[in-house]
Amino acid sequence: MQAVVLVKHGDPERAFELRELNKPEPKEGEVRVKVEAFGLNYADVMARKGMYQDAPPLPAVIGYDVVGVIDKLGPGADEELLGQRVVALTRFGGYAEYAVANQLVVHPINKELPNAAATALATQYSTAYYASNMATNIFEGDHVLIHAAAGGVGLALIQLAKLKNSVIYATASSDMKIKMLEDLGVNYPINSDETDFVEEVENIRGSDGLDIIFDSIGGKSVKKGFQLLSSGGRIVCYGGSKRGDGKGIINDLRLAVGFGIYSPISFMLKSKSFIGVNMLRIADDRPSLIKTAMEKVIDMVNKKIIPEPIGRAFPVSDISEAHNLLESRESVGKLAIEWK
Ligand SMILES: NC(=O)c1ccc[n+]([C@@H]2O[C@H](COP(=O)([O-])OP(=O)(O)OC[C@H]3O[C@@H](n4cnc5c(N)ncnc54)[C@H](OP(=O)(O)O)[C@@H]3O)[C@@H](O)[C@H]2O)c1
Repeated sequence: MQAVVLVKHGDPERAFELRELNKPEPKEGEVRVKVEAFGLNYADVMARKGMYQDAPPLPAVIGYDVVGVIDKLGPGADEELLGQRVVALTRFGGYAEYAVANQLVVHPINKELPNAAATALATQYSTAYYASNMATNIFEGDHVLIHAAAGGVGLALIQLAKLKNSVIYATASSDMKIKMLEDLGVNYPINSDETDFVEEVENIRGSDGLDIIFDSIGGKSVKKGFQLLSSGGRIVCYGGSKRGDGKGIINDLRLAVGFGIYSPISFMLKSKSFIGVNMLRIADDRPSLIKTAMEKVIDMVNKKIIPEPIGRAFPVSDISEAHNLLESRESVGKLAIEWK
């Protein structure tokens, strides 16, 4: 089979090579997918740049989500899955023509669902669901701030927050994205390139603060966000895209210190919560939770409770263009790569 192999860290043009590899064999409880398309995730950009600590050693096939047809079952896997079109969460190995996945994190999808939308459901939408309905909850009418809201996870969070009639504040870094957020019904889009979100929220909200913040930026963004929380407020931290701005130990230290130093006593006295989400850890240790999240979001899309994810697919020959677009901060929604 062919696979896009990460052979060195750096620009995508030099970092990836198309190589011939053996097909992976599904183990106990696993299935193998003949991949139509695989999704790109911001973590892939960090892995390519050598800035993702959970990434496998090089050369490596990265990739977290695939869509395709199940062509082989491992021992004990559900026979009904064979031949079905599914979306699957892979623990790396997704950038290939065949990929294996734990059957718990594989879900049948209808034939019409576009590839990019399908892969978004496995990663971005499941992450958003876990973060907003399982790790904590959005309550009716909550004032919710979503960072990087025009990205893959961000758009999913907007849809889930709208279901709870939330008042939504959302940051993004360009006028094009702000227009898109307005069109999606975000109450207060904030251009993070032009405005400080703290000032903006305080102008709107006075001293009332926010009920919940979803932060994928990390560092000072979290510290500043924490100050904006009202009593009962929660901040959900699930990324550190700010790390991509620089490289090296000083950059990392600055980011780590930027988060702030907290005492559990202050959480209790102020009745504020700090929630961390890492779906890789959940996939390893509690895959049934991912299964629940995936089932919920796929069901919501099937029943048209939320719209199909927004996404764009590229042919495999354009993987560098797609990676550069994701890194450039100009992408909206999910990006995927098709084998054709
Ligand atoms: N914890 C988990 O399990 C988990 C799972 C999935 C994703 N994530 C995280 O969630 C975030 C979104 O993931 P995604 O795949 O859906 O990507 P994405 O949101 O489509 O793309 C990343 C976005 O981050 C924003 N960003 C803000 N500051 C940035 C900076 N300094 N450098 C680069 N980008 C910056 C950019 O939007 P603006 O320019 O508009 O701000 C960019 O478009 C990422 O941080 C990712 O690592 C975490």
